[in-house]
Amino acid sequence: MTRLLHLDTSPRGDRSISRALSKDFITHWKAAHPNDSITYRDLGHHPVPLVNETWIAAAFSAPDQRTPEQATAIAISDELVDEFLAADCYVLGIPMYNFSHPAGFKAYIDQIVRPGRTFSVEADGSYKGLVTGKRMVIITARSGSYRQGTPAHAYDPGLTQEPLRSPVA
Ligand SMILES: Cc1cc2nc3c(=O)[nH]c(=O)nc-3n(C[C@H](O)[C@H](O)[C@H](O)COP(=O)(O)O)c2cc1C
Repeated sequence: MTRLLHLDTSPRGDRSISRALSKDFITHWKAAHPNDSITYRDLGHHPVPLVNETWIAAAFSAPDQRTPEQATAIAISDELVDEFLAADCYVLGIPMYNFSHPAGFKAYIDQIVRPGRTFSVEADGSYKGLVTGKRMVIITARSGSYRQGTPAHAYDPGLTQEPLRSPVA
C-alpha cells in the first residue's frame, strides 16, 4: 500500500487549473490503487504560518531545552514534518506566480525543512537530505509558455517538464 500526500497550493477554488489537474490525477490514482491511503492538505486555502525568530530558535534547540513559546511555535512544524515523512509519494498542485510558486507553498517548505528531521549537517559541514526513496509528482499551471526554444524559457523556474503520458503508473 502506498501512502500519498496530496497538496494543493492555489488560492483559487473552482476556477483553479492546478487544483482540477491534481484532483484528476488523484481520481485516476484511486481507481487504479483503491487500497492506497491519501492524505490531503489545502495550503492554498489554509496556509501554514510563516517561520519567525521563536520558531528558528526552537528548530535549533533540543526539545527539552525549548521555552514554552518555542514549543508552541514549532508544534505545527512537527505535525507537518510527521505528515510529510509518513508519505511514500507526493502529489503537488502548484501554479506559477511571478516566475515562482505561491508564497504559501514557500511557507510550507520553510516549515518542513528541519535540521535533524528532514536534513542533517555532516561533520564536514555539508548538508544531507534525510528524505529518500520517495516519489513526487508536481502538477503546475501557468498562463505562459516556458518550453525550450520559447522566448520566455530563461524565466522557467525549473518546473516545466514534458507532459506525463499517463497519470497512473
Ligand atoms: C499573482 C499571479 C501571478 C502570476 N504569475 C505568472 C507568471 O509569472 N507566469 C505565468 O505564466 N503565469 C502567471 N500567472 C498565471 C497563473 O499561473 C495561471 O492563471 C494559473 O492557472 C494559476 O493556477 P490556478 O489556476 O491553479 O490558480 C499568475 C497568476 C497570478 C494570479
